[in-house]
Amino acid sequence: MEWKNEITDLLKITYPVIQAPMLGTTTPEMVAAVAEQGGLGSLPVGGLSPDRTRELIHKIKSITGKPFAVNLFVNEVPEYNRDDAEAMQDFLEKFSAENQLVFERQSLDALRFYNYREQVEILIAENIPVISFTFGIPDEETIAAFKQNGITLVGTATCLKEAVLLEKAGVDAVVAQGIEAGGHRGSFLDDGPLPQVSTFVLVPEMVGRIGKSVIAAGGIKSGVTIRAAFQLGAKAVQVGTAFIASNESLAFPSYKTALQRAQATDSAVTRVYSGRWARGLRNQFMDAVEESGLTIPPYPIQNILTAGLRANARQADRKEFTNLWAGQASAGAEIRSSADIFTRLIAETEALHIV
Ligand SMILES: Cc1cc2nc3c(=O)[nH]c(=O)nc-3n(C[C@H](O)[C@H](O)[C@H](O)COP(=O)(O)O)c2cc1C
Repeated sequence: MEWKNEITDLLKITYPVIQAPMLGTTTPEMVAAVAEQGGLGSLPVGGLSPDRTRELIHKIKSITGKPFAVNLFVNEVPEYNRDDAEAMQDFLEKFSAENQLVFERQSLDALRFYNYREQVEILIAENIPVISFTFGIPDEETIAAFKQNGITLVGTATCLKEAVLLEKAGVDAVVAQGIEAGGHRGSFLDDGPLPQVSTFVLVPEMVGRIGKSVIAAGGIKSGVTIRAAFQLGAKAVQVGTAFIASNESLAFPSYKTALQRAQATDSAVTRVYSGRWARGLRNQFMDAVEESGLTIPPYPIQNILTAGLRANARQADRKEFTNLWAGQASAGAEIRSSADIFTRLIAETEALHIV
């Protein structure tokens, strides 16, 4: 199998296999482990403070000298209805009391959000070679600053229209995120229903229409799926769910076990946790908020309103009450080192003989 291609040249890696950025799951140790094996590790810093961003980057650099990517959330904070947010807090307060969870009501006037613009200077100063992003397109000034510093830019698209806009904005490669993918949808257009295109449809469509390298994401967890993505025209793959149960992951024990046992039908795309569409395993919290009929405030408002409750559930290993992000292809997720998972993916792909 010839792995070398335009993406391996662009990103200066041996294998065009990317460990997906997974906020709340990926650790510096996971990123470094994949980088050491010749893949591209990605550090998610979406919504984190500038200090935390710097600290995580330094941690990776203390473990590996290999290149890695940093991933940003490039959304803006939208207008929202305060009555909806207060009604949601009433619901969360009652739900928490009924389920012995801790809930701290927040003052809507005191909510603090970090924007990607606060992280730009750090990424440039730290000489980060690859920046991927999701939830939109950075403003022109930011794109120009990254480009002036020779940084490779990777955008995320869930439909062709988004991919075309990313190409126009000057990205170097586009992640084609199929509806199978775990975690948040990268979708950023508000002019229609949420795109729900599968990886198998999205990748060849994008390959045929945009002049940039396409990176397939969603449902990739084995040699056959990697091969299939390359056959469809992808120049790299981005793998998320397969690393969630790894030793280096932040996922808590009952989440890992649920992931291993999950059927392809056990996950759903929901806004209940963060206000943005994301795929995770169905659980009690998801059902309760959906059944409440309440209007869910937009991202990142809902995200911050549910944050304390979710952290509390994670600490107590109570999987029914926090987000269990997972793709459709989560069954069999392995509890072993990220390096082992990565080398298995490579070995399985190499062992396949295409006729
Ligand atoms: C737990 C989890 C967290 C995620 N967080 C991010 C993130 O911070 N930034 C991002 O661009 N994508 C994020 N994603 C989406 C991944 O980049 C990728 O599209 C997806 O994992 C690929 O599909 P798969 O899960 O089937 O491998 C996340 C996915 C998961 C499963």
